[in-house]
Amino acid sequence: MPTTTRQWLLNNHPRGRGIEDNDFKLVETELADPRDGEVLLATRYLSFDPAQKGWMENIADYVAPMAIGDVMRGGAISEVIASHNPKFAVGEIVFGTTGWTEHNVHDGEGLTKVQTTLSPTAVLSVLGTTGLTAYCGFFKVGKPVAGDVVLISGAAGATGSVVGQLAKIAGCRVVGIAGGPDKCKWLVDEAGYDAAIDYKAGDVKAQIKEHCPGGVDVIFDNVGGSILDDMLANIATGARVVVCGGISRYETGGHPSGPGNYFNLIFRRASMAGFIVLDWAPEFPAIRKRLEGFVQDGKLTYQEDIQEGFENAPATLKRLFTGQNRGKQMLKV
Ligand SMILES: NC(=O)c1ccc[n+]([C@@H]2O[C@H](COP(=O)([O-])OP(=O)(O)OC[C@H]3O[C@@H](n4cnc5c(N)ncnc54)[C@H](OP(=O)(O)O)[C@@H]3O)[C@@H](O)[C@H]2O)c1
Repeated sequence: MPTTTRQWLLNNHPRGRGIEDNDFKLVETELADPRDGEVLLATRYLSFDPAQKGWMENIADYVAPMAIGDVMRGGAISEVIASHNPKFAVGEIVFGTTGWTEHNVHDGEGLTKVQTTLSPTAVLSVLGTTGLTAYCGFFKVGKPVAGDVVLISGAAGATGSVVGQLAKIAGCRVVGIAGGPDKCKWLVDEAGYDAAIDYKAGDVKAQIKEHCPGGVDVIFDNVGGSILDDMLANIATGARVVVCGGISRYETGGHPSGPGNYFNLIFRRASMAGFIVLDWAPEFPAIRKRLEGFVQDGKLTYQEDIQEGFENAPATLKRLFTGQNRGKQMLKV
């Protein structure tokens, strides 16, 4: 049994700037023996989420603040390698917010056993926070109706790509906005989007108008900034604007500027609402089953981008902010 473990600690709050290498510190620390009620976990896969930048900055008040020297917070899949807790047996695979640590003594609170017919990593991707966010944000906030035109920013990402496919299942016409021709091709050819807009090719507003001539009924925004402005310029009467995330603000830190075209909400009698997926936690087991069913039926595909090596955790987090990731960003420890 290991007696020490490597851990990545928070070393700086990256406020007002992007993430830098020096924001993390790799240390080796002693590992206590698990006591009664505890398990010893070996981390197998780490999950990476744009929200981690917000947690490092302490701008989010829906989670506890992070202090310098804390183990970097994040979701993970782990294997139970020793157990003094009757609920968990050695060899079982679990997931939870166990952080950037190779091993971890845990009291079992908040750990969920991986039980899926898909690959275990699916509990961090299509059945994980991003899949659940797509489902809850789209259906509960976006309130789609068959025939609606749905426009998604960050469309090729882990969350966005699931939103678009759920929208197709709901009978909507789906247009995605993503960075670069490869991601746009994947959206149309593999994810079944009706059209994709490459925001890096310029004039996003005109491209939206071309693909959504009658206006957009549901916007699912992961990006914010000028892309949100361009989407707001093209809403239909009664549109619902779902504010899921604003990753464009993470480039520089700080707060994003307000949407320039918000007045269009008045003219179009539209609504705009944010959400935090954790508010629907009691429904997660049922929603995971639905998402798993869609995958099994061939209606929902997903991409996983799995980097390797615990020492590469900071570099892997940065990939989300440069668009290098292809689908759900993870790292095999
Ligand atoms: N509200 C909630 O409860 C909740 C829960 C989970 C996630 N979220 C939000 O959901 C969004 C997606 O998260 P995810 O984990 O699924 O990540 P992801 O979409 O898989 O990865 C992030 C993607 O954002 C795009 N991006 C990065 N910087 C950008 C910029 N400056 N302008 C435009 N696009 C940019 C990149 O795609 P391109 O190559 O296309 O640029 C990148 O691949 C995030 O905003 C996250 O904060 C919200």
